[in-house]
Amino acid sequence: MLGSPNKEEAIKIWQEGLDFRIKNYGFPVVDEYVFHTKGIAESCEKIAKLMPDMNSEKAYVLGLLHDYGKKYPEKETGVFHGRRGYDEMMSMGYPDVAEICLTHTFYAPNFSFDSFPSYTLDDLVWAKNKMANMTFNDYDLLVQLCDMFFEGLNKVRIEDRFQGIIKRYNLQFTDIENSYNHALENKKYFESKIHTDIYNLLDIV
Ligand SMILES: [Fe+2]
Repeated sequence: MLGSPNKEEAIKIWQEGLDFRIKNYGFPVVDEYVFHTKGIAESCEKIAKLMPDMNSEKAYVLGLLHDYGKKYPEKETGVFHGRRGYDEMMSMGYPDVAEICLTHTFYAPNFSFDSFPSYTLDDLVWAKNKMANMTFNDYDLLVQLCDMFFEGLNKVRIEDRFQGIIKRYNLQFTDIENSYNHALENKKYFESKIHTDIYNLLDIV
């Protein structure tokens, strides 16, 4: 697949990122990271299989590697994981994965800085510049959507995912309102394409 590794290679890269993080920084929430990234990969694959124009292997790979930048902890290093992931995937020659590392956090390419109070202005300016003139494609949207269904060690509905985000980053609802509305619209978009209820498809109660 041009722009992204195949599934076997992606699993190796994913494992290498995980080992690096554990060895160099420790990873207190390693179980959550594994559950989150593998769960998103499988959910992306499942939905993509029902989409007329998507490659389900590619969807799996992009879901698995979207948080690759977490090989460096954001708190200790002070750098947004999307930026780390983007840079490393570009240097490996995988621009499609790099794009997902960047886009999965944002509800729109021209997002408002106010919606992301936990990131530095420098990282937000960087992200906005990278996404200038970009329109999200179905892979961007699919990873964004599936990212909403995994919170801690649970598979959850969109509302519960946002409750978790608000708590974890100490935010107000107004901070996440745009992202929340985007997630609901995004779910509707895929449901209209696959003619299936996504919570049913993914066994989310
Ligand atoms: Fe992420």
